[in-house]
Amino acid sequence: MSSHENASTAIPLAERALGEIAVALPGAPALFRAAKLDYCCGGRASLKAAAAETSLLKLIFGELTMHMQKEELILFPAMRQGGRRPLQYPIAAMMADHDDHVVHLSELRRLTDDVRAPEAACTTWRALYAGLNKFADDLVEHIHTENNILFPRFLVEPD
Ligand SMILES: [Fe+2]
Repeated sequence: MSSHENASTAIPLAERALGEIAVALPGAPALFRAAKLDYCCGGRASLKAAAAETSLLKLIFGELTMHMQKEELILFPAMRQGGRRPLQYPIAAMMADHDDHVVHLSELRRLTDDVRAPEAACTTWRALYAGLNKFADDLVEHIHTENNILFPRFLVEPD
């Protein structure tokens, strides 16, 4: 073992804290800033946990963007035309999307301690988590409104 190594080098990089990596590796802070990983007040999170949170958020927002476009451009216009076209397939597709959103939302809750900021969290971190909680509430409301109120109106066969 060289004199530059210490006990923490035995820990895989992905398991090490962001703050620790930022100190140990020149260039890491710039990389973390580019990837929007919080290495200052969120520096105690492991690289793996922070990266998982960031990539999950990207996945969620990407999927939601696609989902909203399908609803706004295809399903809702068909509904406005009186829903005479068979809508059970696009509705089933949107409900499958909703199931995926619920799975990803619970994964986000798992990664963020149920979207609860730690005692020592800074204002930026608290604001981010407040925004995430509002987003999660809005998404649940979206799914409830469509699955339980809007979609059933277009799945009932006319007499
Ligand atoms: Fe939806």
